[in-house]
Amino acid sequence: MRLLVTGGAGFIGSAFIRLALAGEGASGILNLDKLTYAGNLENLEAVAGDPRYRFVRGDICDAALVGRALDEFRPDAIVHFAAESHVDRAILSPEPVIETNLRGTFTLLEAAREHGIGRFLQVSTDEVYGSLAAPLEAGEEFPLRPSSPYSATKAGADLLALSYFATYKLPVVVTRASNNYGPYQFPEKLVPLTISNALEGRPLPVYGDGLQVRDWLYVDDHCRAVAALLESGRDGEIYNIGGNRSLANLDVVRQILSATGVSEELIEYVTDRPGHDRRYALSSQKTLAATGWRPEVGFEEGLSRTVAWYRANAGWIERVKSGAYQSYYERNYGDRDLELKRLGRR
Ligand code: NAD
Ligand code: TYD
Repeated sequence: MRLLVTGGAGFIGSAFIRLALAGEGASGILNLDKLTYAGNLENLEAVAGDPRYRFVRGDICDAALVGRALDEFRPDAIVHFAAESHVDRAILSPEPVIETNLRGTFTLLEAAREHGIGRFLQVSTDEVYGSLAAPLEAGEEFPLRPSSPYSATKAGADLLALSYFATYKLPVVVTRASNNYGPYQFPEKLVPLTISNALEGRPLPVYGDGLQVRDWLYVDDHCRAVAALLESGRDGEIYNIGGNRSLANLDVVRQILSATGVSEELIEYVTDRPGHDRRYALSSQKTLAATGWRPEVGFEEGLSRTVAWYRANAGWIERVKSGAYQSYYERNYGDRDLELKRLGRR
């Protein structure tokens, strides 16, 4: 297949491209990425010289550019990863999230419809189901109750994509994955931020009581599921992709402390995220039945690979923690600290 991959310079998109080009599955890949703070061509150095790979810098909201890319490249399918993907940044500034996640998806859907694209795979998240009381697990028919600007835009984009199947018969497949972790993840999300701070001996911020639960999925397992569903998912259907490994945030942080040999004293409880979802949980039975896929990398193994990667790639971390990262960190964590000081908890 010839694939247009959006957001291929990000964490999951780059893992997908590296895996797709390592096998026989893709005869050509065009990576369309705006290179926001989260996009990094260093993530694709391993494939940059592959004759099947091409990169175009551009915004998925730019209809003329997307149209030209489809005219020239003529892909069989679009795999749509591009998004503003971070809940905390979306809380601080919702506008880019709305623009990219909603308008960007709309722009791609319109272009896909005009060009008669054979498959549109919308990469989405378990966060669209909102917070679930234990022991509930969301199946694909579960109601959508997103509670953050990020998850609301992902839910909206999913529904818009599905409406293009119902209305225009665009062959859309929606995938909803749980929390990913692995190499090349930008150090704003829990796992890479904790690893990177632990390796530097800096405080590890834990929101609220740290007992929020997430289902952890190794990034390559996610990408294998996306590849399988690209091939054998049914048009107009939604497929959940869970890691089958639920952990409280504090347990994740403690496992990182033990993998990095750092003291628990670095843990710093900080003011909770507003609207913080308590628990996500997914059933992936439908994906298993459709493709035979199941996660292969257990959390301990995945975490140990991830810590080893961050240890070996100190230069990568240093470069992504540029001035802009420092000002984001101050914006997101500075006030939390102040608030705790005011409350007399530090
Ligand atoms: P990321 O933030 O690491 O990467 C996003 C990429 O999209 C970056 O390369 C960025 O430059 C690009 N991008 C952003 N806006 C763009 C625009 N307007 N035009 C073109 N490119 C643009 O994100 P990620 O963690 O790799 O997530 C990829 C997808 O997977 C997202 O759709 C996200 O919602 C979904 N998802 C992520 C997780 C997770 O745990 N990270 C879990 C489930 C689903
Ligand atoms: P995150 O990695 O941002 O993913 P998501 O919000 O999409 O689940 O956060 C995972 C969990 O970790 C979430 O419950 C928020 C929490 N968290 C912290 O406790 N401290 C942090 O510094 C970050 C970034 C997240």
